[in-house]
Amino acid sequence: MSDQHQFFSHATLEKNVGWLIITTIFVVSVAGLVQIVPLFFQHSTTEPSPGIKPFTALQLAGRDIYQREGCVGCHSQQIRTLRSETERYGPYSVAGESVFDHPFLWGSKRTGPDLARVGGRYSDDWQRIHLRNPRDVVPESNMPAYPYLQNAPANVSSIQKHMRALKRLGVPYTDDEISNAPKELEGKTEEDALVAYLQGLGLNRRATTKTASQ
Ligand code: HEC
Repeated sequence: MSDQHQFFSHATLEKNVGWLIITTIFVVSVAGLVQIVPLFFQHSTTEPSPGIKPFTALQLAGRDIYQREGCVGCHSQQIRTLRSETERYGPYSVAGESVFDHPFLWGSKRTGPDLARVGGRYSDDWQRIHLRNPRDVVPESNMPAYPYLQNAPANVSSIQKHMRALKRLGVPYTDDEISNAPKELEGKTEEDALVAYLQGLGLNRRATTKTASQ
């Protein structure tokens, strides 16, 4: 073939491992950027889905407990677009539902069920009993018990700093919400906070898309 005489022919590339590595990295990088960069500018991934609101101060404190206790190690919060998933858990998750989540708690391990839409599935009392000893409501459960949360006061001292940091990342907390936050947490336990967080998970989209995806 005539291009065998050119310096940069396909044959040259295949015989020269250095060039092959460099050009492969170039091609993979460009292809990656073409796929990833538009997501940073697409409204469906950067703006909240209809009805999605920032966590209340109490829910945010509960989310901290969820992170601290490693619930994400056994529970995902992302429903995939598979029929078996949407039938079990509800409408699949979309990016716009997680815009106020810093960091994301999507997880990848499912020792327990997905929790993306667990809000409202059980009563507050069920959640409390389940957290204190899961075996009391689900006899075969191997989830650890968290009985100490009911006696630990919610962390009032750091909540405002946390909300201000989130505001800097684009979560639209108002000054009023931030100044009222300690009052909202006063007298509450870590268990109250965690239950408030769980009961808020995925409620909005479940309500707005019931007929569309189920
Ligand atoms: C070692 C793994 C493990 C850890 C850690 C864990 N769970 Fe679970 N969780 C499970 C399993 C298994 C189930 C299913 C049986 C049951 O309902 O107890 C479950 C069920 C649940 C359910 C009921 C879900 C449903 O749809 O029925 C909730 C809510 C829940 N877990 C919350 C939490 C929270 C909050 C934490 C952290 C404080 C946590 N879990 C930590 C394994 C775990």
